[in-house]
Amino acid sequence: MIIKEIASRRSIRQFTDEPVSDEDLEEIVKAAQFAPTERNTRAWEFVIVRDQKIKDKIFEGFEQPFLAKAPALIIPVIDEVKTTLPIQDLSIASAFIFLQVEALGLGAVWKNVNGERAEKIKEILNIPDNFMIINIIPLGHPAQKLPPHQESEFQKEKIHLDKW
Ligand SMILES: Cc1cc2nc3c(=O)[nH]c(=O)nc-3n(C[C@H](O)[C@H](O)[C@H](O)COP(=O)(O)O)c2cc1C
Repeated sequence: MIIKEIASRRSIRQFTDEPVSDEDLEEIVKAAQFAPTERNTRAWEFVIVRDQKIKDKIFEGFEQPFLAKAPALIIPVIDEVKTTLPIQDLSIASAFIFLQVEALGLGAVWKNVNGERAEKIKEILNIPDNFMIINIIPLGHPAQKLPPHQESEFQKEKIHLDKW
């Protein structure tokens, strides 16, 4: 049976003003650090932003500026000198973040960033050049309720047994 957080997790883009506690943020980053990594390199670091001025700066010019209202942002970053599979390691760490966020009754969304925008965010946050960033994860207490994933979304025909 699917664990309940996998079914109930949805992308949350509206948040209440209630702050996210230090304890919850620590648990969330801990979950990310329990994720598998290439050759166990554990080359990631996690930047947490709660300062509204910095959040506003990050989301300046974004097509989803309202995400800056999230009480906290987690920006997972990874040292490209230490790993050869940065996107994979960042992605699975992000997945673990989403599941722990859900388990704590919080909500989050993957805000994709790349190219010049990723570089600008690195500059705003003083992230060294050798670190890659692929997303920002705004999180907080949900101000919207979305239905859990349903059994009907399961597409059994996407399973190919032995051969395509
Ligand atoms: C690689 C990736 C990039 C995404 N980029 C964005 C984004 O830039 N903005 C956004 O609001 N949601 C983004 N999402 C969230 C998806 O829109 C969302 O996961 C999808 O619509 C399914 O909804 P659910 O997460 O509620 O199940 C992204 C998700 C992934 C995995």
